[in-house]
Amino acid sequence: MQKCYLMAPGPTPVPESVSLRMAHPAMHHRTPQFSEIFARVEAGLQYLFQTKNDVLMLACSGSGAMEGSVINFLCRGEKALVVNGGKFGERWGKIAQAYGLEVVWINSDWGVPVNPDDIAVALKNDPSIGGVFIQACDTSATVAHPIREVGEIVRQYPNVVYVVDGITAVGVADLAMDRDGIDVLVVGSQKALMLPPGLACVGVSEKAWQKNSRADLPRFYFDFKKERKALADQTTAYTPAASLIIGLDEVLEMIRQETLPVLFARHDILARATRAGLEALGLKLLAPQAPALSCTGAFLPESVDGKKFVKYVRDTMGVTFAGGQDHLTGKIIRINHMGYVDTFDVVISISAMEMALDHFGYSFRMGDGVSAAQKILQERYQR
Ligand SMILES: Cc1ncc(COP(=O)(O)O)c(C=O)c1O
Repeated sequence: MQKCYLMAPGPTPVPESVSLRMAHPAMHHRTPQFSEIFARVEAGLQYLFQTKNDVLMLACSGSGAMEGSVINFLCRGEKALVVNGGKFGERWGKIAQAYGLEVVWINSDWGVPVNPDDIAVALKNDPSIGGVFIQACDTSATVAHPIREVGEIVRQYPNVVYVVDGITAVGVADLAMDRDGIDVLVVGSQKALMLPPGLACVGVSEKAWQKNSRADLPRFYFDFKKERKALADQTTAYTPAASLIIGLDEVLEMIRQETLPVLFARHDILARATRAGLEALGLKLLAPQAPALSCTGAFLPESVDGKKFVKYVRDTMGVTFAGGQDHLTGKIIRINHMGYVDTFDVVISISAMEMALDHFGYSFRMGDGVSAAQKILQERYQR
C-alpha cells in the first residue's frame, strides 16, 4: 500500500466534502434547481474576486479562459503588451499572435518580478497598445508580479484593458479586482478552487465590457457577450461544467466560513514555512525577491538530476511535486501550498524533500528543514 500526496501546483487536492457533493446524481442544468445553485456560486465568486462585476463561468481549462480574455477585449490592429516572465506569460503572447496581433514583450528573468516602470514607459510610447496581459503568479517561475502597482498605471488609459491571469493567485493572495483596477481576472478550477480541472471563471469590469462592444476578433464558443446575456438568466450560453459548479458551491461556502483574510494569512504562513524549510536545507529559492504564495520553487543541488528526483519522490514515496519547465527542466523543484493545504501538508513536503535528498547523496543535517518549517507553522495556532 502507498498513500499518495498531491503536492504539485495543480491539480491540487479536492476536499472530501466537495467530492461527495459532486457525486450526487446528475442534475439538469436548465432547471430552477440548478439556477438556484448557479446564482449562489456567482455571488460567491464575486466575494472571492472582491468585485461587483460579472464573473463568467466557462467549461474549459484556464488556457481557454485566457484565449477568451484576449479575443473579447482587443481590436484588430491593436497591440498586446505582455509581461513575459515565465511559461504562462509567454502563453498570453502566443495566443495574441495566433489571432494576428502584434505583441510588445516586457521580458523579465524567470523568478524576477516585472518592473512596473517598464510598463508605464511602453504604454506612454505606444498608443496602439490595447491591453496589458500579466500573471499575478507565474507558476512556472513561482513569482508574484506587482499587480496593484501595474493596475495604477493601466487605470490611466481608458482604452487599455488590464487582463490578469489569477489562475494560481485567486483564492491565495489578496487580489481585489475592483480595488486593484483589474479589468479581466481569470481563474481555473484545479488550483486554489480545490476542484478537478475543467471549469474556468472570468471576472469582467465595466471598462472591459465597453471595450468588448468594439472588439472585432473572430470568436464563437468564447463569446463573452453571449455568456453575459446568459448570466443575467442565471445560466451559461452552452452546457456548463455542471458538476464542477456544484462542487464550487461547496468550495465557496468553505471559503466564506474561513473568510478571505484568514485564507490569505494561511497561505502566507504555509508559503513562508515552505521557503524556510527549503532554505534550511541549503537550497536556493527561485524567486527570492517576490515569491508566490501559491507554490515555492527552489534549485536542486547541482549533483542531483531533477527529473530523476521528481520521479523518485512520486513513484517511490508517493509524493507528487512538480519539476521545472523549459530551461529550468531538471534543475528545480516546485512545491504546492495553495488550496486544500494546511500545516501538516507542508511538514510532509519538507520531510519528503529531506528523505529524497538524502537518497540522492546530498549532504545536510536531517530534520533541519522540517524544524525550520515547524517554527513558522506554529503561527497557525497562535492567532
Ligand atoms: C499561472 C497559470 N496560467 C495558466 C495556466 C494554464 O491553465 P490550464 O492548464 O488550466 O489551461 C496555468 C496552469 O498551470 C497556470 O499556472
